[in-house]
Amino acid sequence: MSEIIVAKVGELAHGQRKIVQAGGTEIAVFNLADKYYAIENFCPHQGGPVGKGDISDGDIITCPLHEWRFNIKTGACADFSGINVKSFPVNIYGNEIKIIVE
Ligand code: FES
Repeated sequence: MSEIIVAKVGELAHGQRKIVQAGGTEIAVFNLADKYYAIENFCPHQGGPVGKGDISDGDIITCPLHEWRFNIKTGACADFSGINVKSFPVNIYGNEIKIIVE
């Protein structure tokens, strides 16, 4: 398990995202109301770039391939129970946004 710097505080405005490579995985980092969240940019349906989808209702992202919806804060699929996109803990240290990856 390691902690990786993915962005600086202030780099992402509210509602913005950044796609990063961390721990060999592509991860989408979001600022939602100045809290930060991270999910794998790999949809559990067929591997679409879910982190690049449209955001609605404050914390829902829609996969651009087949429109499955996920909660950015939890990774839970909003359409099918028991399905999740992988999410990562986010910590803020001073000016640094870090995520914990395995
Ligand atoms: S790959 Fe994301 S909904 Fe199909």
